[in-house]
Amino acid sequence: MTTATESNSAAHNSPATKFPAIANPTAEKSSDIASNINYHAKYSPHFSPLKFEPEQAFYATAESIRDCLIQHWNETYLHFHKVDPKQTYYLSMEYLQGRALTNAIGNLDILDAYADALNKLGHELEEIAEQEKDAALGNGGLGRLASCFLDSMATLNLPAWGYGLRYKYGLFKQRITKEGQGEVAEDWLEKFSPWEVVRHDVVFPVRFFGHVLVSNTGSRKWVGGEVLQALAYNVPIPGYKTKNTNSLRLWEAKASADDFNLFQFNDGKYESAAELHSKAQQICAVLYPGDATEDGKILRLKQQFFLCSASLQVCCQTYMDIIARFKERREGKGPWKWSEFPSKVAVQLNDTHPTLAIPELMRLLLDDEGLGWDEAWDVTTRTIAYTNHTVLPEALEKWSQIVMRKLLPRHMEIIEEIDKRFMAMIHSSRTDMESRLSSMRILDSSNPQKPVVRMANLCVVSSHTVNGVAQLHSDILKSELFADYVSIWPAKFQNKTNGITPRRWLRFCSPELSNIITKWLKTDGWVTKLDLLTGLREFADNEDLHAEWASAKMANKRRLAQYVLQVTGVSIDPNSLFDIQVKRIHEYKRQLMNILGAVYRYKKLKEMSPEERKKATPRTIMFGGKAFATYTNAKRIVKLVNDVGAVVNNDPEISNYLKVVFVPNYNVSVAEVLIPGSELSQHISTAGMEASGTSNMKFSLNGCIIIGTLDGANVEIREEVGEENFFLFGATADEVPRLRKEREDGLFKPDPRFEEAKQFIRSGAFGSYDYNPLLESLEGNSGYGRGDYFLVGYDFPSYMDAQDRVDEAYKDQRRWLKMSILSTAGSGKFSSDRTIAQYAKEIWKIEECIVP
Ligand code: GLC
Repeated sequence: MTTATESNSAAHNSPATKFPAIANPTAEKSSDIASNINYHAKYSPHFSPLKFEPEQAFYATAESIRDCLIQHWNETYLHFHKVDPKQTYYLSMEYLQGRALTNAIGNLDILDAYADALNKLGHELEEIAEQEKDAALGNGGLGRLASCFLDSMATLNLPAWGYGLRYKYGLFKQRITKEGQGEVAEDWLEKFSPWEVVRHDVVFPVRFFGHVLVSNTGSRKWVGGEVLQALAYNVPIPGYKTKNTNSLRLWEAKASADDFNLFQFNDGKYESAAELHSKAQQICAVLYPGDATEDGKILRLKQQFFLCSASLQVCCQTYMDIIARFKERREGKGPWKWSEFPSKVAVQLNDTHPTLAIPELMRLLLDDEGLGWDEAWDVTTRTIAYTNHTVLPEALEKWSQIVMRKLLPRHMEIIEEIDKRFMAMIHSSRTDMESRLSSMRILDSSNPQKPVVRMANLCVVSSHTVNGVAQLHSDILKSELFADYVSIWPAKFQNKTNGITPRRWLRFCSPELSNIITKWLKTDGWVTKLDLLTGLREFADNEDLHAEWASAKMANKRRLAQYVLQVTGVSIDPNSLFDIQVKRIHEYKRQLMNILGAVYRYKKLKEMSPEERKKATPRTIMFGGKAFATYTNAKRIVKLVNDVGAVVNNDPEISNYLKVVFVPNYNVSVAEVLIPGSELSQHISTAGMEASGTSNMKFSLNGCIIIGTLDGANVEIREEVGEENFFLFGATADEVPRLRKEREDGLFKPDPRFEEAKQFIRSGAFGSYDYNPLLESLEGNSGYGRGDYFLVGYDFPSYMDAQDRVDEAYKDQRRWLKMSILSTAGSGKFSSDRTIAQYAKEIWKIEECIVP
């Protein structure tokens, strides 16, 4: 690598003359690309023109690629405008896009040319790509799923757009100190994002508070209150090897110049002069702001409504635009009606966060377009579909009716009417369900002090389709959470097992392994037809493949070891078994079980003689994930992992056999380093609690073996890779209720290993922090969040037995490599292309629309 100063002169003295700054948006040859990059370095002067260090080079390269994306984007837009296909609007409060540069260059299939162009300019593509900050507008799997879906929608040439919010400070960036986790604001917009294009012509008003005016004729109108503007920022989403380029549209809230009170300002009242501007800034400041106070609750509801209202106004405007064009083109054939809206528009609610799209669409149709209730209801319920992503009670949103009536008075009226009509339907045609009505209703006023709106119920009643995200989860929705509704509308419920994009999660994050797969399959077709990976099965015992596979894995492990050293200062041995658990920190995901297992392992290693120790399988156990800022036990778990690591990693007797590492600030880019270097990964949630999981799919695709419970998509992964290639343990979802009861009744007999591990922590072996409150959460069970509801104690012995089987299996590297190859070979089902094709066909009824 050249140094920064060398590259300065390299780029701006000699190469600049060799590759003059010339705009060439569709450049394909590396010299033309170099010229286009130079053009941006020179004429998009974000930085001093004298510098061309990696950061400057990143922005110029991104802008160069963006030229090409915009070209494709325009063509896509024009083509869709001409064809008027039915379109999907995917509404999500979260997107975890990660970095975009390598993905864009890769999807455009010009990786080599860009790498070459940057070399010519004195840089390495990999280093330039590292400059980019992650767009981390999400919390976990739900947000990353949305981003994988966008990639597949574009790749499958589907007219489908993502809608979200442009959070300036994201969720948070995780810092690890001796105290445990600290949170600081994300800085992805500190400079600017080269990928977003602000659309000053796409602005919609969004109202809050105010009141409902009733006219003489009885029509209703929402007026007054606070009106902000939603301004669109479009982010291009390129498909893989296709011209189709979709958008992710992120809304930002703003107030206008008219809202700025110049008089007050000149009077020294600076804050009140710009009050609405500061309210606007609050809306898109952070994802999931604290909601302990009423103001916090209002802010969250404002965010949700802001997304829904702005996005639906786009749907309606696009539709009316289509009608207008249709009238022009087919004069005499009669105008379109609103009843045909669902044949042009599909709206998907990503969990309950965008539920307000339902009353908002009703309001637009009733109050603005003048439709009657029945017609508006028919249109709305044929347009909207809902995906449930979790059965956890805390995630099934319930909003205070009082807050809702204050912030959205007209929507509250509409929700009341939906609830009333739902009850009337039950009373008139489903008297057999009357006894179930109180739990099925949308409004729950059982506590008169705290009446709430149940958002999931509103979604189920108002959507044409409700889906879960893995077979087991969809079954649980049907047999438990939504069982009553199933008896009314059996056909409404579907399963769509999640998937991940093979581009980001194999092709680009592990080029070495990808090339091997392509070589052995004699095609790179697997990148879009992931089922082709089954072709690897016939080579699972082939020694040449084993050698190549092992060498690619080792290269990825080395890269990971280097990363770990860089961010934690801990040196890990690439010859040890790399065992990884990365995901949000939550008690149901049971990181606590993993660290207890590590503590037990450490204790046993300490007790062994040096000779005995030599027989142990060396392991590096890595953790990563964010704990929600106000979730005390999750933060204690993070602290415990770090405290255990501090002792184990500094114990010279043990350091050849065990390391425990917490990788800070887990995000998409970190995952792209961790997953390719993994050999074992832990998906160990209490059965029935993890709706699907998607990192399990990423690990498996990368030839990593899973140790896990029969939960979420693990069940299907195990079916696909074969049970002999999966380390299974733990209670099944069916057994869980009985075991919880036993725990509650004091009938549970803990395994001595479980007691020993806890006792070792209590003894102060890992410092003086008081872990008793955390360890007490593993005793007894008196309901959700109280005691060992997640059955760590029950599953611990079978978990430890499974870990022993892992140690044994790893000693036989031939066997392990075969398992690894078969994991990849069995991952074809888990492409988000498959998932999205199913959504398109079975829920949205949209078709591909290929840009010529
Ligand atoms: C939520 C669920 C997780 C699922 C993801 C995507 O994050 O907890 O299990 O994989 O959504 O559906």
